[in-house]
Amino acid sequence: MKALSVSHLLGIKYLKNEDLELIFETATHFKEVINRPIKKVPSLRDITIANLFFENSTRTKLSFELAEKRLSADVLNFSANQSSVKKGETLEDTVNNILAMKVDMVVMRHPHPGAAHFLSNRVNSCIINAGDGTHEHPSQALLDAFSLLGKFGDLAGKRIAIVGDILHSRVALSNIYALKMLGAEVTVCAPKSLLPRHISALGVKISTNFEETLKWCDAVNMLRVQNERMDLNYFPSTREYSQNFGLTRERLLPLRKEIVVLHPGPINRGVEISSEIADSEQAIILDQVENGVAIRMAIIYLLASKLNSTIV
Ligand code: NCD
Repeated sequence: MKALSVSHLLGIKYLKNEDLELIFETATHFKEVINRPIKKVPSLRDITIANLFFENSTRTKLSFELAEKRLSADVLNFSANQSSVKKGETLEDTVNNILAMKVDMVVMRHPHPGAAHFLSNRVNSCIINAGDGTHEHPSQALLDAFSLLGKFGDLAGKRIAIVGDILHSRVALSNIYALKMLGAEVTVCAPKSLLPRHISALGVKISTNFEETLKWCDAVNMLRVQNERMDLNYFPSTREYSQNFGLTRERLLPLRKEIVVLHPGPINRGVEISSEIADSEQAIILDQVENGVAIRMAIIYLLASKLNSTIV
């Protein structure tokens, strides 16, 4: 059986092209499973997974939990705002206590970049990064790429734009790594204040002109403005932001081509995307959500197979 080259999923940066191929192949199988009348497989009956969320989440948390349940794993859920973290417990202590309950795998979201990496060096369990601050969000990038593959078949030479708050976005960084690995051309587009200074070193084009970027691209991934991570004002007003960087029908109509529209959610309707476009045929936002469960089943299954060779 083919295996991943890694024992944890900390970021796309640490994966190889063959890992992506194996994850997509496995996710294609699981997508078929979750569309059957009986959506569950017994593969992970002996595996216990803890979902540790130190930061709010709806989609990612539900998607991981559903993926774990579809694989028949035992699932523990932990949210920091209802826990002893509020009493001053350290991350390592919290996790070690949970692991003492014989947990095999930890899915963790944390506000600090590098938190998943830190943990993987200290605890004897498999770690999946479900978003670490402004750093990486590997499962999101994998589901975005898988959704684009579903549309285009192959991403080699495809032109993908990532638009919005690149500076604070872990989705942007993980997407750049994944899309480049798959041979796509990537442009990041945002107001200058929301573009990280050294981003061109990642081999992406940079633009502050949304109209030009839309003319260039085959697909556009619209990111949310991450107000909760902003310590100062990066643009004059939300109104001005959406006038310059909001995806609307008025912007798309003159292009005379159908661009595929992605959004990782949560959407700020009327800010980075209009409701009309978010709910239109060309938006694959709900496909992304469906694919997210299959991709997370694939990630968990493949990592669990490395823990326990009897998993089939
Ligand atoms: C993203 C995240 O949390 O990084 N959302 C998600 O995982 N579905 C993007 C965002 O919060 O804007």
